[in-house]
Amino acid sequence: MRDALLYTLSDGAWHSGQELADRAGLTRAAIWKAIEALRAEGYEIEARSRRGYRLLGVHNFLNGEALSALCPEVGKVEYHEEIGSTNDRAIALAQAGAEAGTVVLADRQVTGKGRRGRSFYSPAGTGLYLSLVLRPTLPAREATLLTVAAAVSVAQAAEALGAQGIGIKWVNDIYCYDRKCAGILTEANLSIEDGGLEWAVIGIGVNVYQAPDVPEEIAQRYGALFEAPGADPLLRARLAAGILEHLRHYERHLEARRYLGAYRERLLYRGETVELVQGKRHRYVRAIDIDRDGALVIENEKGKREHIASGEVSLRPTHA
Ligand code: BTN
Repeated sequence: MRDALLYTLSDGAWHSGQELADRAGLTRAAIWKAIEALRAEGYEIEARSRRGYRLLGVHNFLNGEALSALCPEVGKVEYHEEIGSTNDRAIALAQAGAEAGTVVLADRQVTGKGRRGRSFYSPAGTGLYLSLVLRPTLPAREATLLTVAAAVSVAQAAEALGAQGIGIKWVNDIYCYDRKCAGILTEANLSIEDGGLEWAVIGIGVNVYQAPDVPEEIAQRYGALFEAPGADPLLRARLAAGILEHLRHYERHLEARRYLGAYRERLLYRGETVELVQGKRHRYVRAIDIDRDGALVIENEKGKREHIASGEVSLRPTHA
């Protein structure tokens, strides 16, 4: 109710008490009470007789109602103002039988997870943290394609909202100019019977606005899509909707691999020498391309081509 009301008022236009009551299936008195509760939370809402209510000021909010309204084809959305990790929650839901398309969305994560056991800085108000449950019919060896499709979805949705300088660092990092602004963590459960995936959870974390107090250890490479919230109070929800629309589409046609071209166009360090780190092994190689399964194609020290599958591998530019 609160979130739905806030979503309706987010356009800054006048809405009559009757319209709000009809939408919510409540009385006008109940709407007035809900408006008072929003005011108590700090929202400035003007009320005028014969016009109704309108929300004033600059806002930036995220909620499940907004996402469902902006992306009607999204499945069940579970929104949390604060959560440990949306991936952990989505995995629990997947294990309990949640349908493909279920989304867990949060404004803040306390124990956001990154790849290779790292944490993902997830403060409130500036980021987007979401996890999507999928049940793909796909051999496990092709699971990297889900991450590849997700990276393209983030890049395209961000660009559609005006973000610039977007590049993809193989395999799961989205950069904005030379700073990391988003990451993807795909976790899946292998079905022993057929070697396919029982479920997959694609976790996406985006630094939408520059966060204050970025921890020192990541400050050097931390970036965001936009400097600060602007006129659109629903930009984060719009970004989530765009990502999910692209991703659901690509995932339904994963085998067609239509996202590979868009990934290549944004692939960073193509043709450049990079440091390839595989466990304890460091090598300087030339990044060439990605292959049809999302593996990185490199030219090694001996001038031979190798296909590097994702996993415990990372790339470092040599000029940073
Ligand atoms: C990385 O950069 O190494 C991957 C970061 C993935 C972060 C997202 S935020 C939403 C989801 N929940 C998590 O705990 N992690 C992913």
